[in-house]
Amino acid sequence: MTDSNAMAESPTNNTGNFRNALGSFATGVTVVTAIGRNGVKVGMTANSFNSVSLDPALVLWSIDRKSSCFDDFMQAKAFAIHVLAADQQAVSNHFARSGSEKFADLHYTSGIDGVPILSHYSACFQCSTESQYDGGDHVILVGKVIEFVNNELEPLLFYHGKYATL
Ligand SMILES: Cc1cc2nc3c(=O)[nH]c(=O)nc-3n(C[C@H](O)[C@H](O)[C@H](O)COP(=O)(O)O)c2cc1C
Repeated sequence: MTDSNAMAESPTNNTGNFRNALGSFATGVTVVTAIGRNGVKVGMTANSFNSVSLDPALVLWSIDRKSSCFDDFMQAKAFAIHVLAADQQAVSNHFARSGSEKFADLHYTSGIDGVPILSHYSACFQCSTESQYDGGDHVILVGKVIEFVNNELEPLLFYHGKYATL
């Protein structure tokens, strides 16, 4: 087999290349929702979701400290992670736009602690906020899964900055 490794680089001097290398990790896409300060409904697109533990049932995602809903998620006692289906690119783009009122034209119900639950998704994990860890310019949020729904739909994927499907 031939050696196909590229040259080693430092993430500090090559931020763009570092980003590209991170983008080689294909992920699913989620929308995380919660009730924020003053009872406002917040939601944002996140592909940092991952499973952590089966027993206890723990999952994680990370939030950019610069997000306008950062303080809302930090004080939220609960959040819901919706794993998006292949036909939900528009929903992902909607929740990736910065802004306060993302629920105006959306159909949703109320989950634990009043957390908004979207009407369509591949899987949904309703969590209580278990821990928050410093993660540099992000904070890592660990949730304890209280209940989940698995619709087992084809997933929406994200790879090298673009959406994809299986
Ligand atoms: C596919 C995709 C994945 C994203 N993943 C994350 C993520 O894991 N964490 C994060 O903080 N922002 C992530 N973002 C960016 C946020 O969705 C975006 O900054 C959003 O506008 C934040 O909302 P806010 O500014 O209203 O708080 C992602 C965006 C896209 C399109």
